[in-house]
Amino acid sequence: MSQAVLEYLDIRAAGTYVDMTIGPGGHSELILQNAPDGFLIGIDRDEQALAMARQRLAEFAGRFRLFHRRYSQLAGVLQEAGVDKADGILIDTGLSRDQLLDADRGFSFGSTARLDMRMDCSQPRTAYEVVNHYSQEELYQVLQRTGRRREARKIARRIVSLREGSGPIQTTAQLAEIIAAVVATPARRGKKRHPATPWLMAIRIEVNDELHELKDGLRAAAEALRPVTGRLVVLTWAGHEHGLARRELRILANPGTSEPPALPSPEPKRPLLRYLTPNPLYPDEQEVRRNPAARTCRLHAAQAV
Ligand SMILES: C[S@@+](CC[C@H](N)C(=O)[O-])C[C@H]1O[C@@H](n2cnc3c(N)ncnc32)[C@H](O)[C@@H]1O
Repeated sequence: MSQAVLEYLDIRAAGTYVDMTIGPGGHSELILQNAPDGFLIGIDRDEQALAMARQRLAEFAGRFRLFHRRYSQLAGVLQEAGVDKADGILIDTGLSRDQLLDADRGFSFGSTARLDMRMDCSQPRTAYEVVNHYSQEELYQVLQRTGRRREARKIARRIVSLREGSGPIQTTAQLAEIIAAVVATPARRGKKRHPATPWLMAIRIEVNDELHELKDGLRAAAEALRPVTGRLVVLTWAGHEHGLARRELRILANPGTSEPPALPSPEPKRPLLRYLTPNPLYPDEQEVRRNPAARTCRLHAAQAV
């Protein structure tokens, strides 16, 4: 979807861009190549990602600044950088491949490292705390975000009974096995996707407060765009993100007229955006063949008013 990202950002040679989720810097590199006199601000809550981005963007020294922040903190970042408005802002949600494959961080179901799942390793809340210290009801509330309430109840009950009987659950692999034993039906066994995948994602979302971040980040981005011409592009990778992004962008485009927001907070007093893709874009078959992970990606674009 990189080409579509660049097109929807409508890159200008001397524009100012914000990559709210710079990760290892792939999109930022393309933006800087296409804006030869432009400036880029890169944000990530993961210091390891910022180190990778710094290395990758070395040839553009002087044309970018990186910030170790959550993207909901955009307004403060722009103030610190002395930037008033941005011509284009990109949010590419979720995890990078490097984070997912780093077994020490416990994001994937095979990881035998201590339960962690933090994008920002300096934040106090880890998956260990959620799994071992949340009450059964709190765990249920986290797990039912998958939309599978009956199984969420069963998993929450099983986790609490195991940790009370034989001590804390230590690793993601152990947790995945516990979940699989509760939810794996014969029909689900042997499927490519591990049966614990959506449940581990629900725990990751809780650890990193991802829903509030996305909602607040979209609002902050909409407010930071240059009026009339500024462009916002959002890539989402999972069902909960597709829905939340669509809903929030609709509210930012039509405050007061949409359905009730997914997470309560005051709506803007006037429209901030025009939604350019009321139906999000999908990667084409060719791209999915080249990169099967792109299968679930959706692109949403909006323009400032
Ligand atoms: C999918 S990766 C981005 C990859 C990047 N677009 C590239 O081309 O290399 C997502 C990145 O967003 C970061 N991230 C996720 N939520 C964040 C948040 N709320 N604030 C700041 N960074 C966040 C993650 O740490 C991760 O590095």
